[in-house]
Amino acid sequence: MSTSEPRLRIAMQKSGRLSEDTQKLLKLCGLKLNLSDRRLLAHVSNMPIDIMRVRSSDIPGLVMDGVCDLGIVGDNTLEEEELDRQLKGNKSDYIRTTSLDFGGCRFSIAMPEEFEYTGLACLDGLRFATTYPQLLNRFAKANGINVEFCLLKGSVEVAPRVGLADGICDLVSTGATLEANGLKEVAEVFRSKASLIQRADPLCEEKQAILDTLLPRVHGVMKAKE
Ligand code: PRP
Ligand code: ZN
Ligand code: MG
Repeated sequence: MSTSEPRLRIAMQKSGRLSEDTQKLLKLCGLKLNLSDRRLLAHVSNMPIDIMRVRSSDIPGLVMDGVCDLGIVGDNTLEEEELDRQLKGNKSDYIRTTSLDFGGCRFSIAMPEEFEYTGLACLDGLRFATTYPQLLNRFAKANGINVEFCLLKGSVEVAPRVGLADGICDLVSTGATLEANGLKEVAEVFRSKASLIQRADPLCEEKQAILDTLLPRVHGVMKAKE
């Protein structure tokens, strides 16, 4: 591996909701890489780019801290990290380079099917399981209600059944997970898609040149899908 030439470092989700579409996008952009092995920093063989495969919740921070030059991440994850860092007074700036055309979902409040929902006010004082407490907290505040949290990193939909929470706030795409767990969507908190983000500090000349080659390809791939 040569270290002399600067390589653009892109963070992507290792596995999960966005990883397949992200891989597809990189492939269609002409990047030759082998993601099938266990190496978490994959070397693109035909361009000076390295792909770092990590947990989605780590991507915004890696870009905000300048560890990675670019990241492909869901807007919900991005916004959650930004709010969390702002609250703690940590570095939270980044550039949204492009909104991508995949990863669409709603971040919604869902309640047990038998719950009589009469509007947001009836959620006041209740406890919600979620992976994104900052997003939910901002929504609750904006709507004049107080909510409590129970943090779960996954399988959030199980929480009401086992008495951990009254309801949940989680990502909904087909709604199948809600239905399978006896829940119904009652309020949309945030609409999310995937974004390509970039660290706020300017890239060096060489890395900027790589990005200038890559970006038109990203736009071209999206255009071709229209
Ligand atoms: C995601 C999300 C929802 C579900 C939504 O979970 O957190 O649970 O998918 O998709 P649906 O509306 O099409 O059912 P994921 O499968 O990524 O698992 P995790 O939450 O346990 O990480
Ligand atoms: Zn090398
Ligand atoms: Mg889930």
